Amino acid sequence: MPSVPFRNKVSLFVLFLFSASFLSAQWAPLVTDADAAQRIAWWREARFGMFMHWGVYSIPGRGEWVQWAEQIPVDQYAKLADQFHPEHFDADAWAGIAKAGGVKYMVLTARHHDGFALFDDPGSSFTAMKSAAHHDFVADYVKAVRKAGLGVGLYYSPLDWRFPGFFFPGIYQPNAIELREQYDRQIDELASHYGKLDILWFDGGGNEWLGFGGIEQAGGGWQRRPKDKPYSGSFDWQDVKTVAHLRQLQPGVILNDRTNAPADFRSREGDAALGGFDNQHPWELCTTITEGAWGYQASAKVKPLAQLLQLLVGAAGRDGNMLLNVGPRPDGQIDPAQADRLREIGQWLGVNGESIYGTRGGPWLPGAYGVSTHNGNLVYVHVLHAPQNLVLTLPTLSVRVVKATVLHGAEVPFQQMGETLRLDLPAGSADAIDTVVKLELAEPWVTSAVVPVP
Ligand code: GLC
Repeated sequence: MPSVPFRNKVSLFVLFLFSASFLSAQWAPLVTDADAAQRIAWWREARFGMFMHWGVYSIPGRGEWVQWAEQIPVDQYAKLADQFHPEHFDADAWAGIAKAGGVKYMVLTARHHDGFALFDDPGSSFTAMKSAAHHDFVADYVKAVRKAGLGVGLYYSPLDWRFPGFFFPGIYQPNAIELREQYDRQIDELASHYGKLDILWFDGGGNEWLGFGGIEQAGGGWQRRPKDKPYSGSFDWQDVKTVAHLRQLQPGVILNDRTNAPADFRSREGDAALGGFDNQHPWELCTTITEGAWGYQASAKVKPLAQLLQLLVGAAGRDGNMLLNVGPRPDGQIDPAQADRLREIGQWLGVNGESIYGTRGGPWLPGAYGVSTHNGNLVYVHVLHAPQNLVLTLPTLSVRVVKATVLHGAEVPFQQMGETLRLDLPAGSADAIDTVVKLELAEPWVTSAVVPVP
């Protein structure tokens, strides 16, 4: 493993700057090839996935950034692998919880920024095969997820904190090249040895994500490049080459936009990044089921059901997906409180799923009322904030409404007059989380045109 003495150069002070870079990242362009729309079609219909952050950082249980945040020396952190023997790891149980949660695909951290690979990489000394577990967890995961009929996704971080070349590619050039070789090799391994992969979810690659190639400060120390100073050094991640190789081995795989190579979909991160409506570029909001970090934290509070469902509905109504993260415990189990919350989400979807799965966002743009989704001649108005008098007025659509009901419930009296569609929600129908009103249109809504709601 590279052992260049650089820790002293990277001061704690920098952590804040590093984290703050999330907000200012620039995005890789989206793919434009002829198969792009067909490749991502299943994923757009899926709408809901489960993210999993799990690795040796789960042992201290202070989040997946613990090595960086606490500036734990590389060789000391590496010893965690000797304690990694998750005796309750059961990939089928993970997939079972995911299915009960109503997700259609999963994404597991095959390797996070700390460098620990959950798969078999003979070229690295820091892998699950060489840990106390002596096991390839990615192999079991892929098998179980496939068997459960869910889309198989792997997260991979080209960034590896063990390599000073990530921070100072100009100074530690051979080390940066070593990092790039690891990236290329591990992507090849993941794409070659685990059967069909549906999603490769990159994080911490490319020039503009997570502060690649920062600035060396005069008195020593590392500082993230300011927003208006794109990386201008000579180091090239060669993402385009690595990603082309990946796509050749896995022609159906879809990728997010955290490398320099063209991506299939955009990532938005965290509850606050739910953002605006976009039905032109496929996108996904990733967020956590608990407050705090992505990796396991024993005391992390599970977010309320209403908050999580409104995010999922909010994403669908903005024409995006949601990828909801759980951080399993070091023993391999998903915390029961998190599993319970997923089951509750799954129960809600069991009843209301037709208003989410397979739908597209719109025709009405999000507004104070909530959001809308549609599928063929059905439109679902997700009333997230029911008006007190239960009278909801929306601008009329260019296609007539022929019937309105509360989903699985009572008829909703409605009137279409001039510019206005008036819906009278029946007494007692307002739901604190989401009152789903199902409208049947005289013709399918086939356009991507949207209707603003004042
Ligand atoms: C950030 C963090 C990381 C997490 C990821 C999920 O990039 O570095 O810990 O895995 O977001 O999107």
